[in-house]
Amino acid sequence: MQRKGMSLGITMVSFAALTTGLALAQDEGGPLHQIMEQVNAKTTAIKKSVRTAVAYKKAQANNEIVPNVQELIRLAKEARGLGKEAAGKAKGEPDPEKKWTELMDAFLQQSEKFAATVSAPSTTQAQAKSAFGVVSQSCTDCHNVFRVEEDDSF
Ligand code: HEC
Repeated sequence: MQRKGMSLGITMVSFAALTTGLALAQDEGGPLHQIMEQVNAKTTAIKKSVRTAVAYKKAQANNEIVPNVQELIRLAKEARGLGKEAAGKAKGEPDPEKKWTELMDAFLQQSEKFAATVSAPSTTQAQAKSAFGVVSQSCTDCHNVFRVEEDDSF
């Protein structure tokens, strides 16, 4: 009776260890993956803010857009140093780490431009929206080289 209880206990412990191991294996998220998830969340928030004139006005009144862009820039600067992690995903690039830095710099430049655009009081929602379209394009430019599949939300 006593033994049986014990081995059941051991079985449960090893089962728990096994499922934990599985959960870790499934979550392939390296640091870059985690940054990208945050980048995506900020992007979604910004897209919502520029989608319509009403949304834009409200987001500007609450000063939501600029802090989100600044966070996006901060995340991109963090990711900029992760070229080594990304390098293995690049296709047909002789120097993937260099390409990574170039693409990240292009992204940073567009994001800074967008921050300046939305900081100007005269900027209309249509202008803000098209300026953010350029930022999104630089996400895609990098994902194309580093083989990231995008869904339609971009
Ligand atoms: C300089 C390159 C680069 C730029 C710029 C870039 N990404 Fe990524 N992104 C990557 C790489 C590489 C991955 C794959 C990371 C991984 O999963 O290991 C990725 C993955 C993702 C993912 C998938 C994460 C997941 O949950 O599976 C999303 C979403 C994403 N990026 C959104 C964005 C958005 C939105 C932008 C622009 C605002 C952006 N990325 C800009 C390189 C980039």
